[in-house]
Amino acid sequence: MPNAFYVTTPIYYVNDVPHIGHAYTTIAADVLARLARLRGDAVFFLTGLDEHGQKVQQAAAKAGIDPQTHCDQLMPKFKDLWEKLNISQDGFIRTTDAQHQTIVQHCLQTLYDKGLIYQAEYTGWYCTFDERFWTEKDVLEGLCPDCRRPVEQVSERNYFFRMSQFQDQLKEHIHTHPEFIQPDSRRNEVIGFLQKPLGDLSISRPKSRLSWGIELPFDRDCVAYVWFDALVNYISALEYLSAHPDAPTFWPASVHLVGKDILTTHAVYWSTMLMGMERPLPQCLFAHGWWTVEGEKMSKSRGNVVDPSAMIEEFGTDAFRYFLLREVPFGQDGNFSLAAFHSRYQAELANDLGNLVSRTLAMLGNFSQHTVPHPDPQTETEFDHQLQQTTSTLFGTIEEHLHRFEFHRALEAIMGLVQLANQYIDKTAPWILAKDPARAARLQTVLFHLAETLRFLSYALTPFMPHTAEAMNRRLGLTADISTSLLSNYPPWGTYTYNNPVSKGTALFPKKDIPATQGSQTTPTSSPPASKNPQALGSSGKSSPLAIPTDDTPQIGIDEFMKVQLKMAKILEAERVPKSSKLLKLQVDMGTQQRQIVAGIGKKYAPEELVGKTIVVVANLKPAKLMGVESQGMVLAAGEKDMLGLLGVAEDLPPGTTVK
Ligand code: MSP
Repeated sequence: MPNAFYVTTPIYYVNDVPHIGHAYTTIAADVLARLARLRGDAVFFLTGLDEHGQKVQQAAAKAGIDPQTHCDQLMPKFKDLWEKLNISQDGFIRTTDAQHQTIVQHCLQTLYDKGLIYQAEYTGWYCTFDERFWTEKDVLEGLCPDCRRPVEQVSERNYFFRMSQFQDQLKEHIHTHPEFIQPDSRRNEVIGFLQKPLGDLSISRPKSRLSWGIELPFDRDCVAYVWFDALVNYISALEYLSAHPDAPTFWPASVHLVGKDILTTHAVYWSTMLMGMERPLPQCLFAHGWWTVEGEKMSKSRGNVVDPSAMIEEFGTDAFRYFLLREVPFGQDGNFSLAAFHSRYQAELANDLGNLVSRTLAMLGNFSQHTVPHPDPQTETEFDHQLQQTTSTLFGTIEEHLHRFEFHRALEAIMGLVQLANQYIDKTAPWILAKDPARAARLQTVLFHLAETLRFLSYALTPFMPHTAEAMNRRLGLTADISTSLLSNYPPWGTYTYNNPVSKGTALFPKKDIPATQGSQTTPTSSPPASKNPQALGSSGKSSPLAIPTDDTPQIGIDEFMKVQLKMAKILEAERVPKSSKLLKLQVDMGTQQRQIVAGIGKKYAPEELVGKTIVVVANLKPAKLMGVESQGMVLAAGEKDMLGLLGVAEDLPPGTTVK
């Protein structure tokens, strides 16, 4: 009997269209589900929609339609996005499903019959936005401690779940199951929360105040609190959506992935509800961090909500999946910035991975008639063994990282191998071997090592970037369907027989032409702005008036200026761009990364005098090509027609320091 693996996402409120936060958890769950399938587990991956409650009722009222129509209209937006993101869910639940509603009523009745639900008068401070009551001591100057919106005093007869009765049992469970709440910082938060006496949980709302919910089976005038209804989805879905009639029982869930804001509802409400129903608790609750966008909280009113569909349209599904999981450790908060996205896309996907694949396939085409040759063990070197060793252990490394939900480290390991393989190409220089018939055997060995590395890479990428993995597989002429080939059956290094021709295909990650600048002030060199200094040179060969405006330059607001990210950078290497008297190619240290910048400063400086200088660069300028050489930013310099000097600061500041 295979191991059962049950992974869930939160069910999303249908009060608006899906955004990056929803996409984030769903992609992470998808990676775990795909990995478990490769391991041979029986997998149930559940996601869906939370369709009841005040937020949805309010959103429907705002749209002037009834709540069910509102949900029916928004539901496809989520389903479509999951399809575009290549999400492989086994079940998609909607809390308005009739079967779910019946099961919620059954759970309520069970708890009621056991005396765990009672009726009482309740007066408290109610936050409409969060749909929850707060006690006097929680409220801060009339505001909800969670969302900072005004609360109102509400008195009503409600039904309560005796949550307090399970406080000790829950504390004990958390202490004896260290893997139950992850990461540790979140576990400590819940432990801290449970130090204070736990109250009972109001689990009903009078229909007079809120009608959009599941009716209580023992009181037709009330509906269930939306969280009671929603949390039950994790068990109700198994009863009517599980596509595995003869699969092992999926409860308890292997992992509920949730955002940090909904950890308490899961760790405390859900756990005690399950205890009341005498059902086992999920094995793990993992709370991930939140995304800000360009350094700010994401919100509709700020107009900075990242639309996943737009990102997919421009960069493709896999680049978006890659970035979200690579950029930020899963449990931590992170910032989504287009500059960071472009930089990873260009450097890691287009240059490293894309290039490795196209170089290897091109060489197999040119030097081996589109076939994977047999290696000659006599010609193997230490580097070959290192490549083989890293490649064959890659999947184990990924599994270890994902066991700890360290998606970013798993991807780092994959990209580490990509870089190693690129170095292997540079070092072995197959194009030189190809010129010497006496070294034909060595050439075969090298090409074979590269093909084997790509084969393993495509397999390892399957859970993260399924389209890319399939494309690599196809181009390598592999016949197995990697999304279903089991890890235990995967042919070890050197044992696969390549029968089919390989083909190069088009670029997996086409290089992107990045629009002129993030700001709107850039003007082409051909019509230089009448600005005073400083002058910005680089990326696009255009000068940017990051200067105090004069009469004939349009003024910009501080908001616009703040979009330009200036940083200190140290020049590590400098060389002339061939056939240009003006352009220099610089390698600069930006603190957390190294970048290549092309700057028009070659008339003023000789390359060797620049090395070691600390300068100011525009860090969030989209990369561009200058005379065919990529520039990932631009340096700031003073001067009008002629460049007179590079900008630096008086103190010797470390690379990466922000300049404001
Ligand atoms: N309906 C409840 C969950 C019920 S689960 C039984 C809910 N829905 S939600 O649509 O408001 O939020 C769903 C998830 O999106 C939460 O896990 C939340 O943390 C996540 N995110 C919302 N904004 C986010 C970011 N800016 N960044 C990352 N995740 C974010 O809560």
